[in-house]
Amino acid sequence: MKTTVSVIKADIGSIAGHVTVPDELKEFASRKMAEYVETGLINSFYVTNAGDDLQLIFTHNRGVDNPEIHEMAWKVFSEATEKVSKRLKLYAAGQDLLKDAFSGNIKGMGPGVAEIEFEERKSDPIAVFMADKTEPGAWNIYLYKIFGDPFNTAGLVIDPRMHDGFVFRVLDVVEGLEADLSLPEDTYDLLAIIGTQSRYVIKEVRRKSDGEIAAAASTTRLSLIAGRYVGKDDPVLIVRAQSGFPAMGEILEAFSKPYLVAGWMRGSHYGPLMPVPLRYSKVTRFDGPPRVIGLGFQVTDGRLIGPVDLFDDPAFDRVREWASDVTEYIRLHGPFMPHRLGPEEMEYTTLPQVLKKLEGRWEKAD
Ligand code: F6R
Ligand code: MG
Ligand code: MG
Repeated sequence: MKTTVSVIKADIGSIAGHVTVPDELKEFASRKMAEYVETGLINSFYVTNAGDDLQLIFTHNRGVDNPEIHEMAWKVFSEATEKVSKRLKLYAAGQDLLKDAFSGNIKGMGPGVAEIEFEERKSDPIAVFMADKTEPGAWNIYLYKIFGDPFNTAGLVIDPRMHDGFVFRVLDVVEGLEADLSLPEDTYDLLAIIGTQSRYVIKEVRRKSDGEIAAAASTTRLSLIAGRYVGKDDPVLIVRAQSGFPAMGEILEAFSKPYLVAGWMRGSHYGPLMPVPLRYSKVTRFDGPPRVIGLGFQVTDGRLIGPVDLFDDPAFDRVREWASDVTEYIRLHGPFMPHRLGPEEMEYTTLPQVLKKLEGRWEKAD
């Protein structure tokens, strides 16, 4: 029987502003998830938070995009909003629940979703990455490093099971189109596309030799659903590790550099993505800097064993310091580009309202 790992997340309210998810909300969600284990809908779960986003990580046997599973997640978020977020007057209670009623698939309704289904190997390690204050395209550079760059992933060169390369499925979030690019032969074409992270998003990666799923990411762009700014999408990513996939250490190696991502304060700024342990899964300085947490699990007989807090290690201190240095530097620019996003992406923020007020001040130039 195949096992499905689902990660479904939403910002349904946070404490002290957009800082973090209070324990009451996580405890409520955990109690609900435990009830669904009792009924047999899901097999196991882990509830946590990435900054102000509530994260439901769980296993089941119903495959990806299953309506009952998505409805369960929708119910957990809606009930938690009604019974906890609103009662405690949490900040932005229910923010990511953009639709009134569930309609078959939680994608397109606000919450972010990443799911993979596979036949369990003799031993099946996975990593789940969850970011706050950024967008799905933020994973592009990390996924390229993990599955396409031999300077990051030694196995691409050394391990015959990975040597054929990987196939990247890229989604154009504006046109709603997708394309498969096969590495190494399509490397330059892939890079030509995924360098535009705001539009092109890597949705999944498969091993070329047998089509086996290697990674899946959430692709929700809240602003494109709502047509206005409703907080950043704060993406999630599941990656399979070892035995013909990149080693866990190769996957984590990609996070040793603080790449600039779009999001941060008011979803309007570039900033470095800082890998942090769970205890630092909150956003502070300038509502950031954008952060990522990483949890490692074994998937065993359909259940999650773990987690391991992957960035809770001095080996990542240097990248955190580096991210702080970058923060210091890029913040110097205040409201100027390239710290602030370009005009195209600012369309979905509150800036156009300010610009509209200024319309009457413009006169024909001499
Ligand atoms: C970014 C984010 C925050 C808010 C900021 C202003 O995704 O959620 O940076 O944009 O704190 O929030 P409001 O407008 O609610 O005061
Ligand atoms: Mg928020
Ligand atoms: Mg968030």
